[in-house]
Amino acid sequence: MSKRTIVAMPGDGIGKVVLDEAIRVLDAAGFDADYVHGDIGWEFWCTEGNPLPDRTLKLLEEHKIGLFGAITSKPKDKAASELAPELRDKGYVYYSPIVSMRQRYDLDICMRPCKTFKGNPLNFIRRGFGGTIEEPQVDTMIFRQNTEGLYGGVEWTNPPDQVYDALMTHPKFKQNFEWCPRPELAVSTRIFTKKYTTRIVRAAFEYAKSKGFDAVTVCEKPNVIRETSGMMLKIAQELAKTEYPDIYVNNTNIDAQMMWLTKNPETYNVIVAGNMFGDIVSDGFAGLIGGLGFACSANIGPEIAVFEPTHGSAPKYEKLNPSIVNPIAMILSACMMLDHIGESQISNRIQQAVADVVEEGKVMTYDMMKLPGKQDVIDKGAATTQQMADAVIKKIVK
Ligand code: NAI
Ligand code: MG
Repeated sequence: MSKRTIVAMPGDGIGKVVLDEAIRVLDAAGFDADYVHGDIGWEFWCTEGNPLPDRTLKLLEEHKIGLFGAITSKPKDKAASELAPELRDKGYVYYSPIVSMRQRYDLDICMRPCKTFKGNPLNFIRRGFGGTIEEPQVDTMIFRQNTEGLYGGVEWTNPPDQVYDALMTHPKFKQNFEWCPRPELAVSTRIFTKKYTTRIVRAAFEYAKSKGFDAVTVCEKPNVIRETSGMMLKIAQELAKTEYPDIYVNNTNIDAQMMWLTKNPETYNVIVAGNMFGDIVSDGFAGLIGGLGFACSANIGPEIAVFEPTHGSAPKYEKLNPSIVNPIAMILSACMMLDHIGESQISNRIQQAVADVVEEGKVMTYDMMKLPGKQDVIDKGAATTQQMADAVIKKIVK
């Protein structure tokens, strides 16, 4: 296969640190690729009025695969005040470059794996019968619809006439909200389309089939949100009937699912949900397997795919030198990229190396030691970001 070119978009804060370390691990594992740098993030908002410059979009369109660190976002007013003086009052409005990337390139399938690493001191434990302590082995892939639903961006405060009039045609709106003065009314929509709902549900079934799992859990709220959650459940039931007869459709409500999270997380291997509930349930599961230092993700579209840790830019750690943050979430995101482009052997080798380092327990970043994140954690025995990556590299079996 010809050498791959990967668009490396470090972004802001710790995004820069963890992406460099992940690339070092990829190199050491024998992944032969060129990396081209893609500008993204706060710096480009401040200096150009655009956190996702066109030149970065061109690179993504050309090379199709992106590895992304993290970006910093700030509230509207703060964003406006940090804009370069010559760009102020020119109509620039800040937007999230990652949300925009997902929508522009139809990166509609978000995969967030949550898998227990043996020996991780952050693993969730629970009390079993008779006072025993159990450590459930979580192995869950969450499929989150990434472009629609509550994060679709179709929303208004003080909705315009046409929208308001349309809402008033709904008997429930008239009955429950007519009393509210329009300027005091905020509306966010939750739009699901059959096409994209089918794509995410199918992705979940395909994954279950490929891994030999016999159930897919639709985690929504169809008893209350009948139209959208109901659509996802119905599509799943139809697909199971017509195309995946060996896979059972389990139906949970997001609120109950969060309650069951700590009761029996090991029984859920494949979960599919809309944008917001997928975000919630994947953060919940990530908490059981080590939290932000371990939570990786993929954003996959028909042509382009971008891989990123779920954590942000953690600005309070940005200036620490040496860096202390955990690079594992970024390294595992890089493994998801390898799986996506058919380099599963290299991916497996890296994942095994991470598992070995965690199980051995000699090298731990501050989060794994449950220390408050300050520079002095190194004196207390915590590994630096670089030392953690080095430990993984050392364990890679060639
Ligand atoms: P954050 O994820 O950056 O950090 C929250 C806390 O989690 C940190 O203070 C740290 O204690 C811990 N943490 C995060 N990553 C870690 C790692 N690799 N190793 C060890 N500990 C880690 O979220 P926060 O503080 O809410 O947001 C900071 C900035 O990041 C904001 O500007 C926010 O908008 C942005 N953000 C960007 C995301 C992205 O790029 N996809 C996602 C989430 C937040
Ligand atoms: Mg989140």
